Amino acid sequence: MLTVALPKGRIADGTLEVFKAIYGDDFEFEDRKLILEKKGFKFLAVRNQDIPTYVSNGAADIGVVGLDVLEEHKSDVLRLLDLGFGKCRVCVGVKNEFTLDYDMPGIKVATKMPNITKEFFASKATPVTIIKLYGSIELAPLIGLADAIVDNVETGTTMKQNGLKVAETIMQSSAYLISNKNSFITKRAEILALTSKISAHLNS
Ligand code: PRP
Repeated sequence: MLTVALPKGRIADGTLEVFKAIYGDDFEFEDRKLILEKKGFKFLAVRNQDIPTYVSNGAADIGVVGLDVLEEHKSDVLRLLDLGFGKCRVCVGVKNEFTLDYDMPGIKVATKMPNITKEFFASKATPVTIIKLYGSIELAPLIGLADAIVDNVETGTTMKQNGLKVAETIMQSSAYLISNKNSFITKRAEILALTSKISAHLNS
């Protein structure tokens, strides 16, 4: 039995579609249930940011999570495969009329990704004050809580509809299949077989 941590939402849906295609059966969480057992897999419905915790602690053998989350959490897990879906960018955003000046002292940046933000501005030698938020990041510059944001951009619609623009792209992200390091030893054959099935399906 392989335990698979999936982030609730689009990435879980995309992953379960792949399992459906490979195993020719429906893989769907029932209503509010958080565990789904099927065909020798135990799927866990987990909050996106919690996936690295489940997998690095061995509560799940493998998992699917965005590269942005892996980079933010510096997770001690193995990256097995780029699944190619769940694509987005991590960007610095500012108000349309604002020009981001890396020499400006005391820039306030709102984000749910403080580590990525810290590293990016450190690479520019720009001191920043980070304001940690958990969502609706685009609101912060509009009401003067921050000068800039670091957030995910997928279609760009949220920024556009809120009068913001991308000032810089920090990284590209997509969903990755990851493994607990110990599980990759004890369940190596199972994990590798699944990885190659998923890879073959995605390339077909
Ligand atoms: C994410 C992200 C942006 C939005 C970007 O938010 O934080 O707000 O999607 O997508 P777009 O470029 O296609 O408009 P999410 O829906 O995950 O909610 P959040 O505010 O809780 O982070």
